[in-house]
Amino acid sequence: MNKLKKKPLFNPEGDTDVRLRRMINGNTTNLNDFNNMRYPWVSDWYRQAMNNFWIPEEINLSADVKDYPRLLPAERTAYDKILSFLVFLDSIQTANLPHIGEYVTANEVNLCLSIQTFQECVHSQSYSYMLDTICSPTQRNAILYQWKDDEHLLRRNTFIGNCYNEFQEHKDPVTLLKVMMANFILEGIYFYSGFMFFYNLSRNGKMPGSAQEIRYINRDENTHLWLFRNIILELQKEEPQLFTLETITELKEMLLEGVRQEIDWGHYCIGNNIPGLTRDMVSDYIHYLGNLRWTSLGYEPLYPEHTAEPESMAWVSQYSNANMVKTDFFEAKSTAYAKSTALVDDL
Ligand SMILES: [Fe+2]
Ligand SMILES: [Fe+2]
Repeated sequence: MNKLKKKPLFNPEGDTDVRLRRMINGNTTNLNDFNNMRYPWVSDWYRQAMNNFWIPEEINLSADVKDYPRLLPAERTAYDKILSFLVFLDSIQTANLPHIGEYVTANEVNLCLSIQTFQECVHSQSYSYMLDTICSPTQRNAILYQWKDDEHLLRRNTFIGNCYNEFQEHKDPVTLLKVMMANFILEGIYFYSGFMFFYNLSRNGKMPGSAQEIRYINRDENTHLWLFRNIILELQKEEPQLFTLETITELKEMLLEGVRQEIDWGHYCIGNNIPGLTRDMVSDYIHYLGNLRWTSLGYEPLYPEHTAEPESMAWVSQYSNANMVKTDFFEAKSTAYAKSTALVDDL
């Protein structure tokens, strides 16, 4: 129970029978076999992730170039801080996912983790594109490395980094489960006061291109959340001995702490200074998300008074549920990247 096997890169003696495949500690051949999958949800996930392909530079930021210098000082400060945090999140995801993948012995799940890693690269690059377009190189660098001057941001990044580093130091199944939970929290909680800030600017007629970039990112993050939720649910079935009362309590504490930090961060960056948002809107929405995430793993709500989506925040899902919105919010075209299906064979 305390051992965790690192998967070999080439293993001719590995199991080819899907019934023997396991999320961790399996005997994988490492062959990418798309015809024999153990987990039925993987094919849907893979198709969705491929359909979500997008290119940051295809989004027009010319309105944002004009809007950025005209933002209210509180809006610009929040824009910079939130973007700085998002760059950190996507960067650490890019670095951490391959590390987790070394211990996942279900090869089809590794395919998903690889696509996710690619998408995290695209997200980091989209922030660079936004910053390169709307501000000077000096401003851009100050925003990227804001954790050097902002103690709150440094504290948050350190907390998240430490959760991930823990698995670098301790290679056991419970620590792996915890780093997976940390991923689930990152994907399902940490982005959201940032996302709501960008969507709020957009509904106030400001920075529409930035909001559009965020919508594409958000659509990907929804699939990442789906992936980690499913990994954890499969582990509940395959490795029930990992889910002791003590470990479940630790996972719950991690989520409670994540919610607490996200609300603090939202209050710090947004507070009551941004037209269209209030401190209560931030805390109501993040508490609601905390419930949604914990109940989606099969547990009881953490905050019984926040089980329904706050009415004041219904506009957020209009922006964020891109997979359900077949028509682009701004440009009236499909949000799913459809070039692969539009390819014309003229040989
Ligand atoms: Fe991301
Ligand atoms: Fe992600």
